[in-house]
Amino acid sequence: MTEERLQKVIAEAGVASRRHAEEMIAQGRVTVNGEIVTTMGVKVDSNAAVTVDGVPLTREQKQYFLLYKPRGVITAVTDNKGRKTVTDFFDDVHERLYPVGRLDYDTSGLLIMTNDGEFANLMMHPKFNIDKHYVAKVQGIPSSMDLQPLRAGITIEGRRLAKAKTQVLSRDNTKKTAIVELVIHQGLNHQVKKMLKAVGFPVIKLSRTAFGSLTLNGLQPGDYRRLSHKEVNELKEQAGA
Ligand code: URA
Repeated sequence: MTEERLQKVIAEAGVASRRHAEEMIAQGRVTVNGEIVTTMGVKVDSNAAVTVDGVPLTREQKQYFLLYKPRGVITAVTDNKGRKTVTDFFDDVHERLYPVGRLDYDTSGLLIMTNDGEFANLMMHPKFNIDKHYVAKVQGIPSSMDLQPLRAGITIEGRRLAKAKTQVLSRDNTKKTAIVELVIHQGLNHQVKKMLKAVGFPVIKLSRTAFGSLTLNGLQPGDYRRLSHKEVNELKEQAGA
């Protein structure tokens, strides 16, 4: 069972900002399991009955999903150009989910969706080391040596990138294309496309095939499934939490 500070619980229920929630607590307007609580920093578990001004809080359960994002879908909650968004796949889920990180409009693959902001930050923060696997179809046929700069860590737009793992999975000598796998843990904008272009192999098609220990096994583009507690905890561990 997860425990959280009372002011955070109130803020997350959308009743007030965390600061305002602290004022409400100090003013004796908040009860936990029927008792008025005025001390700050009290922790409450996820089953506690909390009221503010006599009104029970409805607490959103934390939800975690894995979506196989198809190409041609925008990684956003809404889109002012009317394009399909990743939240459109979750019509039957009541909680407001948002994406953890971003995949480009024309990139397919594994995207986590959640309403847990802390978890999302943990997954996205550069200091945490979650490996992301990408498979790209590229123009040209790179040798292992061609990809060496990516393994050593290249500088793009004045920024030195972390070392990547690279592997050429297959080659099409007739079409002069290849399938390349890259494993990186950063999540900069268009990072994989920029990296492969920088070594002379522009990306034709891109997919994220794994995020930490999660894979797309058994899913088709547009499918989603809930993550188990075990999977969520494993991701937290991989992030170093
Ligand atoms: N790198 C890219 O270039 N695009 C993505 O969508 C994800 C990683």
